[in-house]
This record gives sequence, structure tokens and C-alpha cells, in this order.
Amino acid sequence: MKTLNDFNFKNTHVLLRTDLNSTIISGKVQDSERIKEAAITINELKRKKAKIIILAHQGQPGENDFTSLRQHAKLLNKYAKVKFVQDIIGKRAKKAIQELKSGEALLLDNIRFVKDEFRPAKESNKLIATLAPLANIYVNDAFSVCHRNQVSLVSFPKYLPSCIGRLLEKELNALKKINLKSKNTLYILGGAKPEDNIKLLNKAKNNVLVTGTFAPLCIIASGKNLGLQNKIMKDKLYLVKKIKPELNKIIIPVDLAINVNNKRVNVKINNFPSNYKILDIGDKTIELYSNKIKKARALCMKGPAGNYSKKPFAKGTIALLRAIANSRALSLIGGGHLNDAISKYKINKKRFGYISLSGGALLSYIAGEKLPGLVALGIK
Ligand code: 3PG
Repeated sequence: MKTLNDFNFKNTHVLLRTDLNSTIISGKVQDSERIKEAAITINELKRKKAKIIILAHQGQPGENDFTSLRQHAKLLNKYAKVKFVQDIIGKRAKKAIQELKSGEALLLDNIRFVKDEFRPAKESNKLIATLAPLANIYVNDAFSVCHRNQVSLVSFPKYLPSCIGRLLEKELNALKKINLKSKNTLYILGGAKPEDNIKLLNKAKNNVLVTGTFAPLCIIASGKNLGLQNKIMKDKLYLVKKIKPELNKIIIPVDLAINVNNKRVNVKINNFPSNYKILDIGDKTIELYSNKIKKARALCMKGPAGNYSKKPFAKGTIALLRAIANSRALSLIGGGHLNDAISKYKINKKRFGYISLSGGALLSYIAGEKLPGLVALGIK
């Protein structure tokens, strides 16, 4: 496994895949732990006099948070000086890449704006054809996206000498040490991407607590109609049939918190359907889950329990994180949003076993799956 120690970067063009994907509130990209941590490798490469071309994404096509990286560039500048070009494979990007001086970094726009990012098997892929000839070395520093079979993760190692960045190195080293396999691990699966949770659900023996957008889906899978939430989640309902056979492993919430004119109202599951949005697990569920956490010897929490950026609905996330911080369990915490929640609500980071910046990738990794981004680098 090659690292930044294995190359001389002086005067070389380095294609660096990093992860800047962050929360967006009312169109404003929030400063995040991911953006801050991405700066570590960028700054090291700058010190080593590389000419750095940064590839990153925000959101997925069709989602509300699928947007340009212009704001990310501004935020990243707090931690590492970078230029930004609103282009990826066009003339402006090529010119900006060619004009880079040693020790300078350039962030290209959202790599997922180019459809070919999603077609790694395609012959004459535009991303590869344009960017590979402009670079000398490829560095992957985006462990959190390594579960995706996408060009910026899997293709460049075929064309360029490659290595991992400091953040990916840190994640891999930490995860090797945290071994949850032999333990009767308690899983707390939440966040905004329920599809990422399914993989682990298949692997878990029992003891799965569900929060975030995964909680309503599991409740729907148990046969309950939640009302408005069923409509809101219509694009995710395809997951219900995957959850159904696993329901015996899940400890379903006993209540959920709905948003009534920005006020938190707890509603017992039996009292649904409701015409309001569900934004958190309810108070009784917080109590139930906190007791489970207290008794656990090993646990893994992925994703916030609710809308952690809106104070009344951050309650579940804060309470579960505090319960973990106060427990004796070996704990693994994952996902960009959960990292931001820990910082925002000033929960003592030292009380956790390891806090990963990865969500879906982390779950795939601990479920024992091969991550395409790692495989491409020859890492098992
Ligand atoms: C994440 O937020 O988990 C990573 O940035 C990966 O994003 P993705 O789920 O859109 O691929």
C-alpha cells in the first residue's frame, strides 16, 4: 500500500480525489469536518511542491444537495489555499491545470456533473481521456467514497502511479485496530441514506437500533402507515422489501418526533398516520435506545438520529451520542453528518473509540465487502 511517503511530488501534477461532501442548509454549504480534514493531504502536497488537481463531489444527481463546489472552495480556503474553476473537463479546466505552479492547488467542479463519472467500464471515457494525460500521479484520499464504483475512485490507478492520502491512511489504520467482529455488536443505523444501511443489516445477527430516515422505513416495513412520511419517502420505499426479512433483528422505535410548526411533538407509533414530517426519534425511543447502549460492550453508530441541525430535532442524536460517550462500550462512529453533530454540540471526542468520516463506505467495510476504490489501489 503506497502512501505519500513513496513519491517525489516536486513539480508533478497530482490528481487528488478527496471528499468534501457536506450538509447544505437553505442553499448554504456548511463548514464540515470533512472539508477541514481534506486540507491535511492538500497542505502536505503543497509543501512537497506538487501541482494539485482536486476532484470531489457534492450530492448525487437528482438530489437536492447536488450542486457546484464553488462554496466548498471558499470553505476549504480556511484550511488550505486552493483555486476553483467552474469546469471539469472543458477548456477552462485544462488551462487552469496547465497554468498551476508548484505548491498550488486547484479544485475542479463537482465531478458528478460529468456523466462519465458513473461509467467506469465505458470505452473512451471523457474524464479519463481528459484528466489522466494531464497528471503524473493519482492520490486517493476519499475512503468515504471508496464503496462507489466510479471513475474518480477506480479508473485512474490503471493509468497513473497511485497512492493513498493521509486521511485514507488514517481511516484504514484505525479500522484495522477496531475489531467488532468477535463482539456482540450493537448497531445504531441512521442518517439520510437508508440504502447504505441495508448491507450491514444483512450481516448483523441482532441488536439493530434504527434512527434517521431508516427508522420510518423499518416501521413501514413492519406494516404501519405513517401518513405524510410514506409520501415523502416514496423514492425509498423500494427498500421495504429488503428490510422485511430482517425485521427480527431490529428494535423498532416506540415513538417518533414530528415537526408541528417547528415544535417537537412526540407521537407513539400506534397513533400514526400523521400529516406532519418526522424529524427525529421520540423521547421514549431515546430512553429505550440509551438503555441498550448502556449495556452494550461494542457498538457502531452510523448517521444522525434526526435532523440534527434543527435544535428540537437534534435531541435524539445528542442523547444517543452522549449515552455512547458515557458508556464503557468499544465504539465506532461513522458518517460526515455525525462528525459535524459531535463538533456542533461539543461532545467529548475522546470518549469514542474511533470517529470515522465515512458512513456508507464504513458500513460496507465492516460488513466485509470489497470496496472498489480500495481494490483499484490493490488494497485488500
Ligand atoms: C458520503 O457522504 O457518505 C460520501 O460523500 C459518499 O457520498 P455518496 O453516498 O453520495 O456516494
